[in-house]
Amino acid sequence: MEITGSVAIITGAAKGLGRAFTESLLARGAKVCMADTDTEAATATLQQLQQSYGDDNVMFVPCDVTRTEDLKVVWDEGEQKLGYISLLINNAGIGNEQNWQKTIDVNLGGCMRGTLLALERMGVNKGGGGGIVVNISSVAGLKATPLGPVYTSTKHAIVGLTRSLGSEFHLKISGVKVQSLCPSLVKTDLLVNSLKNAFSPEVGQAITKQANCLPVISAEMVAEALVKLLEEGRNGACLMVVAGKEPFYVDSPISS
Ligand SMILES: NC(=O)c1ccc[n+]([C@@H]2O[C@H](COP(=O)([O-])OP(=O)(O)OC[C@H]3O[C@@H](n4cnc5c(N)ncnc54)[C@H](O)[C@@H]3O)[C@@H](O)[C@H]2O)c1
Repeated sequence: MEITGSVAIITGAAKGLGRAFTESLLARGAKVCMADTDTEAATATLQQLQQSYGDDNVMFVPCDVTRTEDLKVVWDEGEQKLGYISLLINNAGIGNEQNWQKTIDVNLGGCMRGTLLALERMGVNKGGGGGIVVNISSVAGLKATPLGPVYTSTKHAIVGLTRSLGSEFHLKISGVKVQSLCPSLVKTDLLVNSLKNAFSPEVGQAITKQANCLPVISAEMVAEALVKLLEEGRNGACLMVVAGKEPFYVDSPISS
């Protein structure tokens, strides 16, 4: 897709990867509607981004991705101010292993609600003009991670959702591509919060021990990979971003 001139919604955009995605798209001439539960952090981010990229190119609408109604308001307000939305980045995510219901509801539920709404609003079969949905998964979406079984389950499910809806069958009907980005470890608040809500005391200790030895990548590197995915990625693509390698696509071991 042509990023310049496009309009995107990014959930979880107040900080971390969502903020980096927002800045990267703005720098390439897109307009962005940020959506997040953290109004304070989002407002501070918004002010900084508006200074660099202009008041008319970026906005914030409070949104909890566990509520479809919130997502609808984001879409309505974003489209009213910025124009036709052709890109949704389902990025909001948490790593709370103690409250598995919440983690499923935010991570998988957020991607599910967002993707279904995107099909309603962008689907050519529904009167829309087509577009792209990018679901933010993780390397944990493609491999086992014993230190985060709940988080890993949600990220695997996001890959399944992406590959299933990102099929020729659905694309022909909706004109909406569905893709996924699978980054490895980035030092954000998610990691800190995950430690507070680890699966078990043993897992908490193991994470603390390993935290400083694991290779980390920067949020900017992941944001660059997002641009690559949008510009050249095929429908249903899962793009992995890991330390020390160029981003690479991972296909399902069994074709459908
Ligand atoms: N940090 C990593 O190592 C890493 C690696 C791979 C994938 N990811 C994924 O990237 C995404 C962003 O994570 P991050 O590391 O930037 O985390 P982060 O904690 O820095 O940012 C997450 C953002 O999501 C928002 N959020 C949380 N719950 C929400 C909800 N219910 N509705 C709307 N917004 C909500 C938070 O307020 C925050 O601004 C997540 O989906 C995460 O799983 C992160």
